[in-house]
Amino acid sequence: MSSEINKESPFIGSKVILRSIELSDLDAIMEHWNTYEMRIGMGRYIPHSRTEREEWIKKTHEEMKKQESYSFAVIEKDTEEFLGVGALRKVNNINRSASMSVAIYNLENHGKGFGTDAVKCFLKIGFNVLNLHRIELHVYEFLESGRHVYEKLGFKEVGVRRKASFIAGRYVDDLIMDILEDEFREKYPI
Ligand SMILES: CC(C)(COP(=O)(O)OP(=O)(O)OC[C@H]1O[C@@H](n2cnc3c(N)ncnc32)[C@H](O)[C@@H]1OP(=O)(O)O)[C@@H](O)C(=O)NCCC(=O)NCCS
Repeated sequence: MSSEINKESPFIGSKVILRSIELSDLDAIMEHWNTYEMRIGMGRYIPHSRTEREEWIKKTHEEMKKQESYSFAVIEKDTEEFLGVGALRKVNNINRSASMSVAIYNLENHGKGFGTDAVKCFLKIGFNVLNLHRIELHVYEFLESGRHVYEKLGFKEVGVRRKASFIAGRYVDDLIMDILEDEFREKYPI
């Protein structure tokens, strides 16, 4: 093994950077957070108020201090535009596991490689910064682009909560995907 330290920041990808979510992001968040497509993708489709989102931002800071969850804003590297958020939540220090989620808010920004790059950054943070052993995520069966991105980056489908969620008038499967530390290291050697 080389004794050299990899000095590439896991918070900086090829297209996005991750940084703390700030109250000054509220305008950008509210612009797309309540669109029906976003609400459906997140599985909570009752719109949120600005005050609720403001409290949520503060909560992410508290959770980070307690080392329970790590939420970051996803920012476009070139333009510094706010693209969305992602998180490693429910960090369990005994099992060394966490649950990941990533959302690019504006549909016009989908399909440009931002989601893939952001998930890659979260994996690097999870395995190389937080020293996790396993990262899990939940994705609805109909979110085909998300499933594709996660599989491409090494996640495996390991379970199905059948017809577990009632979304847009029908029950849908909630897929569980995960990736282990060894599988990540094989794909992204340090
Ligand atoms: C899931 C999400 C983060 C992906 O972000 P994104 O920026 O659009 O992703 P990318 O542009 O990096 O990649 C999209 C990939 O999906 C593929 N794709 C698009 N539509 C697809 C479909 N119907 N079936 C299969 N693959 C599809 C694209 O071809 C692309 O793959 P490629 O790079 O190998 O060609 C984004 O769609 C999102 O925020 N959705 C709403 C929130 C959400 O659903 N989050 C997931 C909950 S865990």
